[in-house]
Amino acid sequence: MADDRQTEIRGAFDAAAADFTALRRHLWEPIAAAALAVADPRPGERVLDACCGTGASAIPSARLVGADGQVDAVDVSGPMVDELRRLSADLPQLRAHQADVTTWPDEGYDLVQSALGIFFFPDMTAGTDHLISRARPGGRVVFTIWRGESMAAAGRHLGLAIAEVTNTPVPAPRPPHLIDRVNQADPYAVWLTERGLADVEVTVHERALTMTPEVAWLVIVGSGFRGALAKVPAELVDTVRETYLASLRDGGVTELDATTLIGAGRRLT
Ligand SMILES: C[S@@+](CC[C@H](N)C(=O)[O-])C[C@H]1O[C@@H](n2cnc3c(N)ncnc32)[C@H](O)[C@@H]1O
Repeated sequence: MADDRQTEIRGAFDAAAADFTALRRHLWEPIAAAALAVADPRPGERVLDACCGTGASAIPSARLVGADGQVDAVDVSGPMVDELRRLSADLPQLRAHQADVTTWPDEGYDLVQSALGIFFFPDMTAGTDHLISRARPGGRVVFTIWRGESMAAAGRHLGLAIAEVTNTPVPAPRPPHLIDRVNQADPYAVWLTERGLADVEVTVHERALTMTPEVAWLVIVGSGFRGALAKVPAELVDTVRETYLASLRDGGVTELDATTLIGAGRRLT
């Protein structure tokens, strides 16, 4: 079951890679910039960027660590990694790897970071513990997650549109997940502290995305929501798009909450 879910997630991001880059300046880059303001990669440091996508945080990190530093950017999706390699050709200190980061073997990093990735792990706690173990003792660890219902409205309206167009039932809510319990600042800080981190702080990065039709559709095709389109026959995708945009309009959705929680701490030993 966990393997099926992993395959589904990878498939969604494989398909989304090019549109993911298009959504970058609207969403991934500002979110990564806020995380980097906390993570503070410094010249000469070794950084592990887990679930790197097309490099919204890995690329600026590589610039900040400079030629004497190193960024290992790891993503399970081959097309994401290919896109990152294309975008970072001028940064030899950035090494892009296609791998499941929950079994990444290298360790001793000054900084381990992951923007919007840890909740995709089949076992979020075990995967996060593994990432923490990749930092050197005293090293910094910074994980960004969505706060509360961030992004959820887009998924809801997409689900309604797909059901209407394909004449299928509205999808059931997904089963409860750990992320539902830790997606507010206080429980997130407690959970990170339970992971053995010291000096845990959670920063709230308030953000709202203006849902022009172009951006509203990019939110679907350039993110994990893309997976929901996989089962829609190709000839119906344009109708799903129009129905989804109409559903947002009818629901008065002009902005999408895209607030993130940036959890930071230090590995003790
Ligand atoms: C929402 S994207 C975030 C990408 C990037 N950090 C950013 O902020 O733009 C999540 C990424 O996590 C990757 N991912 C999910 N599970 C993974 C795993 N076990 N190992 C490596 N990457 C994974 C996906 O392929 C996807 O590219």
